[in-house]
Amino acid sequence: MKFTFMLAPLEDTSDSVLRSICHKYGADITFTEMTRFDSLARDNKSTWDKIAMLDDTPSWVQIVGSDEQKLKKFLSKYQPPKAFQGINFNYGCPSPHLTNHGLGCAMIKRISKTKKLVSAVKDYGYPVSVKMRLGLNMHEKEKKIYLNLIDAVDADFFAVHARVGSQTYEEPADYDALRACVLLGKPIIANGDVDTQEKVSLLKDIGVKGVMIGRAAVRDPAIFNRLKGLPAPDSEQLKKEYTELAEKWDSRFKYRENVLKRIGKPATISPYKNKEYETVMG
Ligand SMILES: Cc1cc2nc3c(=O)[nH]c(=O)nc-3n(C[C@H](O)[C@H](O)[C@H](O)COP(=O)(O)O)c2cc1C
Repeated sequence: MKFTFMLAPLEDTSDSVLRSICHKYGADITFTEMTRFDSLARDNKSTWDKIAMLDDTPSWVQIVGSDEQKLKKFLSKYQPPKAFQGINFNYGCPSPHLTNHGLGCAMIKRISKTKKLVSAVKDYGYPVSVKMRLGLNMHEKEKKIYLNLIDAVDADFFAVHARVGSQTYEEPADYDALRACVLLGKPIIANGDVDTQEKVSLLKDIGVKGVMIGRAAVRDPAIFNRLKGLPAPDSEQLKKEYTELAEKWDSRFKYRENVLKRIGKPATISPYKNKEYETVMG
C-alpha cells in the first residue's frame, strides 16, 4: 500500500464539495460523513443524500450501526457509483447517543459482532475498513482492547484516531500507541492532530501506511499537497473554488457555512460545539 493521504469523515462538513476540493489538492481518498445504516435501510432520503458522490473523487462510505440484517438490507439497495471505494465502519464516535446503544466507539470491544458486519460487506465484494479510537475510555485503552480488534478483524485498513472516546481535543493524540498497532502487521492509518510535515515524517517512521486529516483540512483544504511538498493555492483561491462548486452542486447551507468560516483561520479561532461529536473544532 502506497503511503496515502486521507480526508477524514466530518459530520455536516465533508460533503461532495469539500471532498472534491481536497482531492484536487492532494487527498488521495476521502470519506462521506457518518450515516446510520438503519436509516439507509429504511430509505431515509436525507441519509441517502449524505452518501451521494457527485463526481469521481474517491470516497469511502462511512456507516455506523450493529444489526447485520439492516446492514444487508442497505447493501442490497446500494448501487455504488464509480467513485465508491468501499465501506468504512465508524468505531470512533464518542457521542452517548451512540455509545449508550453499544455503537460508535463502544463497538471497539464487540469483536465477534464486527466480524459479522465485515463479512456481510465482503459478501458484496466491497473493500472494508474501520475508523476507530483507542477505546471508549482509558480503562479500555489500558486493557489494549483496540489491539484485539485490529488483530482479529480482516479489514483493508484501520484508521486509528489516537485518542479514547472520553478524551477532549485539548489532549494530544497519542502517536506512541500506534506503534503496537503497526506491530500487528495490519495496514494502520494515523489520525489525530496531523498538520505538519514533521508529524507525517514521525508517523512514517512509526510505520503507518498513511495519515487521515480532519480539522486541519477544513482550515486548509490544500493541506495534502502542502504536506506532500506540492504546489497549493492560498486561502482566498480555495474559498473561491469551494464556493463555485457549492453553487454548481447547490450544496446545503450548513456545510458551506461550516467550511467557509474556517478556511484560512488558525486552529484556535471560533471553536464550536459539534452536536454529535461534542467537541471543539478550531
Ligand atoms: C466537526 C467534526 C465532525 C466529525 N464527524 C465525524 C464523522 O462523521 N465520522 C467520523 O468517523 N469522525 C468524525 N469526526 C472525527 C474526525 O474524523 C477525526 O477523527 C478527528 O477530528 C481527529 O482528526 P483531526 O485531529 O485531524 O481533526 C468529526 C470531527 C469533527 C471535529
